[in-house]
This record gives sequence, C-alpha cells and structure tokens, in this order.
Amino acid sequence: MTDRYAVIGNPVAHSRSPEIHAAFAREFGEDIQYERLLATPSGFVETVEAFRNSGASGANVTLPFKPEAFAYAGVCTARAERGKSVNTLQFESDQVVGDNTDGVGLCRDIVSNLGQPLAGTRILLIGAGGAARAVVGALLDCQPEILAITNRTPAKAQLIVAEMDAKKRFCAVAPAELSTRRFDVLINATSASLTASLPMVPPSCFDKNALAYDMMYGKGLTPFLALAASTGARTADGLGMLVEQAAEAFFLWRGKRPSTGPVLNLLKQNSQ
Ligand code: ATR
Repeated sequence: MTDRYAVIGNPVAHSRSPEIHAAFAREFGEDIQYERLLATPSGFVETVEAFRNSGASGANVTLPFKPEAFAYAGVCTARAERGKSVNTLQFESDQVVGDNTDGVGLCRDIVSNLGQPLAGTRILLIGAGGAARAVVGALLDCQPEILAITNRTPAKAQLIVAEMDAKKRFCAVAPAELSTRRFDVLINATSASLTASLPMVPPSCFDKNALAYDMMYGKGLTPFLALAASTGARTADGLGMLVEQAAEAFFLWRGKRPSTGPVLNLLKQNSQ
C-alpha cells in the first residue's frame, strides 16, 4: 500500500515540499504519496487528526502551525523541545512523534552546500519569533565563537537567551548596539521579507567575507540580501534549507538519506 504524507499549513498552495519529496522518493523507488493540506486558522488539530485517521504515515507542518504541532505531538524529540516547535510528525500506531528538522536543515545548507563553516565564527541571528527559536539550538551545536540574536523588539531576543543554557556563547544585542559589531554569518529569520521590508541591520555589521542568509526564498534578492550584496557579502536564500529540512524528515520517515544537491538544482531550474 502507498504510504501517505502531507504538508499542512495556511497558506500552503505555494509549498514546494510535494515536489521535493516526490524527487526523494524517485531516487529510492519508494512508493509514497505527498500532498498539500490547507487548514483553517483554527483548524490545525481537526485537519491533522482527519489525515492521521485516514491511515496516513506522517506530515510536515508549516506556518503558522509549528507551535500547535508541538502541543499536538504526544512525544517530542529534544530538538523540537528546545524550540517548542514541530515541523515533522510521525504517526505511529499508538502515538504521534514530533520533531523539528529546520535547525539541522539550516546548518547543513550553510556548512555543506554553501561551504561556510559555522564552528568558531561570529553569527548574527536576526528575529526572535518562531522561525528564529527553531534554529537557535542547532546553531549553538555548531560551536560558533558567538551567536548573537537581535530583534526589533529586544525583550523577545533577551527572553530566548535567558531560556537557553549557553550564556558564554549566546547573547542578545539590541538593534541600537549593532553598529559596533561585525559578523561572519548573518541570518535573517524575521518575517520582514514577506512584506519586502528590511530588518534593522547596519551595513557595517557585514564582515569582508560574510555570508548573508535569508530563511525566506523566492524570486530575486530580498531587501536584506540586497543590502548584504551591496556590502560585498555572499548571499543565499532559504531554498537549500527547505530541501535539507525535507531530507531530514524523509530520513525520519523512510530511514534513507536522499541526495539533496540534484533536488536543489531541479528546484532552481523549475523556479526560473
Ligand atoms: P515566525 O514564526 O515566522 O518567526 P513570528 O513569530 O510572528 O513569525 O515572528 C516574526 C519575527 O519577525 C519577529 O522577530 C518580528 O519582530 P518583532 O518581535 O519585533 O515583532 C520580526 N519582524 C517582522 N517584521 C519585521 C520588520 N519589518 N522589521 C524587523 N523585524 C520584523
């Protein structure tokens, strides 16, 4: 019988996850079906329960339901617990296991695909919402010299730092204090790119060989990446993270690690 999976979100029509999982399945000749499921803003649990009860094997969860998926899962992995956010659900006969593959997906894209080491570097994480929370633990696991987090509302960044047990390597920096700091890797985890706006990061923050990474993806440069490019920094959008987080989810579900490079190239070609 074909194993069934889906991505649940709102909106979800734009999601490229079906394309990605279909390509992974082709690599191994796996018989899976992967669809998009739109949940109403208050209808996440109803949607996921109906899908599970229909005999499905698992689901990915995207905005805005990742915190709700964390609450819904009966058991969560340590990396999901750290960010209080779940993007991958595995339906087992007696329980639902929640995991979060976003952090590892981001780090693999930066280190393996983009060739930018994170160990020993100065990282600036911009934003303190759900997207930022989900990747903090994985970034700290990469042993940076310092992980600084900044946010338009500084108290939210301070709260994330206070909650993590990594005070020596993890600090909050208010936007007004950024002008004296420089970083090797700058990651935009705000939703500012959705409204084509720019988070407050002065150009002086980008070191000479910096990598600027926007967790959003789409056509052309986001305002953040355009600013970074004007300083001479390298730029990358979140398409590679999307493929890497999907590969980790596929591994959890199917026990097989797909080759991500060809799938990333395919997505880039299909976007042109
Ligand atoms: P998500 O789950 O995508 O992270 P969220 O939890 O609503 O969404 O968080 C959005 C993040 O983007 C927050 O850090 C927000 O800053 P505030 O905490 O000050 O609201 C940030 N953000 C959104 N629009 C922004 C903008 N135009 N400039 C700077 N930061 C912005």
